[in-house]
Amino acid sequence: MKKMITVLSLCLALGTGAAIATAAEDGASLYRKCTGCHGADGSKQPMGVGTPVKGQSADELYNKMKGYTDGSFGGSKKAVMVNILKRLDDAQIKTLADYIATL
Ligand code: HEC
Repeated sequence: MKKMITVLSLCLALGTGAAIATAAEDGASLYRKCTGCHGADGSKQPMGVGTPVKGQSADELYNKMKGYTDGSFGGSKKAVMVNILKRLDDAQIKTLADYIATL
């Protein structure tokens, strides 16, 4: 019985690790589309306007990106972001927000 529990918890641990690794990988590959304007580490001011994405929390980033898609957030160049984000679904936007917050 004890052995079974050990095997079970090992499987759970591995499963969780794999899920986290996949999410991180997805975030990194999705973010590759953004580096031209935001910089590889997110510290670049995009197109000379707005705020660098680096240093912001996942919640802030997610809310701003959702704000672009629903029209409640954005500055003078918001059309750029609206066009990019309308091709991404909610899960991808969430993955990106989580990833950028780790930069
Ligand atoms: C062609 C250049 C360009 C690309 C590519 C781009 N962005 Fe942006 N991004 C901008 C500009 C310009 C702004 C500021 C727009 C405005 O006036 O609100 C901005 C703003 C943002 C903001 C809000 C920052 C803040 O605090 O005000 C987030 C978050 C963001 N971008 C995420 C992304 C993500 C994620 C990607 C990749 C999927 C991406 N951007 C790709 C140009 C770009």
